[in-house]
Amino acid sequence: MQKDASLLDTIKAYMASGKAVLPVFSATSLKIQREAAKAEPDTGVIERMIICDPSLTSQILRISNSAFYKGLQKVSTVRAAIVRLGNQEIANIAILVSQKKQFKAHEPFVRALMQQLWRHSVSTAVSAQWIAHRCGLKARAQEAFTAGLLHDMGKLLILTVTDAVKRNGTLHEMPAVVLLSEVMDTFHAPYGYALLRYWNLPKAYCRIARDHHKPEIAKGDDLMAIIRLADRTTNSLGIGLRGTEACVLAATPEADYFGLDEIALAELEIKLEDAKVFW
Ligand SMILES: [Fe+2]
Ligand SMILES: [Fe+2]
Repeated sequence: MQKDASLLDTIKAYMASGKAVLPVFSATSLKIQREAAKAEPDTGVIERMIICDPSLTSQILRISNSAFYKGLQKVSTVRAAIVRLGNQEIANIAILVSQKKQFKAHEPFVRALMQQLWRHSVSTAVSAQWIAHRCGLKARAQEAFTAGLLHDMGKLLILTVTDAVKRNGTLHEMPAVVLLSEVMDTFHAPYGYALLRYWNLPKAYCRIARDHHKPEIAKGDDLMAIIRLADRTTNSLGIGLRGTEACVLAATPEADYFGLDEIALAELEIKLEDAKVFW
């Protein structure tokens, strides 16, 4: 318990120091998402924002040509990628590519945990998007994708800070994985909320980060139900920080909320296999 308090105190002191280097959110990817979410998005604006960033451009072309999108012909320009996949899908890829850059650490131990967290975040995003489409909530699919990607950012914050305090010598020994997991499990929701507020992201994403482990889903809270089901799905497949969590998905309140049965959820598992291109 003492050890637990000291890791947490070290994390808190670093964040309060005013010198903390925290994860950032790409302003460009948020602008792309806002344009794509308009009733009549301007494809030219989205294209220009992407081609200003050569690394984003090359990643978008690579992913657009991957098996996940199963195109027959290779696309070689951003414009062609937008035409094939649509503005919203391109906006999702832009957020993925820019967020992935935040999952970096000096310590191999932290890096390995971040890798698991990245896989969990991406898979939850893809699951959330699939659930929205499947359950007649197509208009919310992009929002679901982003909310899924960002729901556990509190864990990224804790890992980033742990890496920093180990590197600057404030933390002498790397904590045991059990201890670090306990701290992440207990504090990632409020820390994630604070981080997303700090990034100035829409309230819906902040709320998901803060409340996705609350005991119950409020009636009519479709986005929360989507993210919770997506989160359970990825955890039940062992795509997360805690190994495989035994769970009969079709028997969960979240699956019941949407009336999804074993057959539908098996389709989602297949979709997640394809999503490994984002790992
Ligand atoms: Fe979580
Ligand atoms: Fe999660």
